[in-house]
Amino acid sequence: MTEHYVLSDGFQIPKVGLGTYQLKGVDGSRRIEQALNVGYRLLDSAFNYENEGTVGRAIRNSGVPRDQITFTSKLAGRHHDYQLAFEAIEESVMRSGLDYIDLYLIHWPNPKENKYVEAWRALIDAQRAGLVRSIGVCNFLPEHIQRLEDETGILPVINQVELHPYFNQAKQLEFDQANKIITQAWSPLGRQNASLNEAIITEISKRYNRSNAQIVLRWLLQLGALPIPKSGHILRQIENLSLFDFNLSAEEVALMSTLTREDGRNKDQNPAVYQEF
Ligand SMILES: NC(=O)c1ccc[n+]([C@@H]2O[C@H](COP(=O)([O-])OP(=O)(O)OC[C@H]3O[C@@H](n4cnc5c(N)ncnc54)[C@H](OP(=O)(O)O)[C@@H]3O)[C@@H](O)[C@H]2O)c1
Repeated sequence: MTEHYVLSDGFQIPKVGLGTYQLKGVDGSRRIEQALNVGYRLLDSAFNYENEGTVGRAIRNSGVPRDQITFTSKLAGRHHDYQLAFEAIEESVMRSGLDYIDLYLIHWPNPKENKYVEAWRALIDAQRAGLVRSIGVCNFLPEHIQRLEDETGILPVINQVELHPYFNQAKQLEFDQANKIITQAWSPLGRQNASLNEAIITEISKRYNRSNAQIVLRWLLQLGALPIPKSGHILRQIENLSLFDFNLSAEEVALMSTLTREDGRNKDQNPAVYQEF
């Protein structure tokens, strides 16, 4: 049902994943397990979402073989010191109740702190130690990624960034693609912002008899991105995964890309200055 991208480290990753922000506790775990049952094989979590245990439980309860699931977590900004980072990764693994994490990302570069290269060294060593399979980043600008390569020789396989119709990240996508980095799209539905009701999108959705959300997610796929929409509801979970039996034309993709805005970020979280701990 789902197609895959091949990461630059050789591993495959589903082209669509489930965001899990705010899915927590027993109820959250049940909703994530339901997503696994309808076909999701990529789950996005983070130390700071405080739900690695919730996701791990869903994975264990689902009956889906562990090696078919890509479980993602992220390093919090307060853990960029090498030792703190390594211990946080060990803690993430323990919280999940799993033996390893498939994909571990630095959550934010926090450039004023200037410790993201140190954090990256901890991810590299955690990968060597078998705690995590693939390593990457979130919210990294080209200059941040360049420094990782210059100072460690190792590029991330994923860069997860804010990406939706009001903020299409054309330059970042181009940079990531030139470096064989897959760009994951967070808030791919703009967290239900007004873009979902834009006339251009509604018009295209009528042509294909699809929802506006499906048109947005298909547009992201055709840009070469990997969306991770969050939904706790089964019908939307199925809807957000049902993207592989239709194609937008090049003109439609280009038209949707005109919706982007200079200030289109949902919450003005510009990684050049924004910091999160
Ligand atoms: N790396 C980072 O810094 C970062 C930052 C933000 C988010 N993320 C990750 O990205 C994931 C997704 O982003 P997000 O949660 O911010 O926003 P999103 O996926 O763009 O939007 C989620 C919202 O849209 C609703 N929704 C889902 N499917 C829908 C559909 N087909 N039609 C209409 N509404 C729909 C959901 O409601 P229901 O649940 O009620 O269906 C929820 O309110 C997060 O969960 C998290 O894993 C990462």
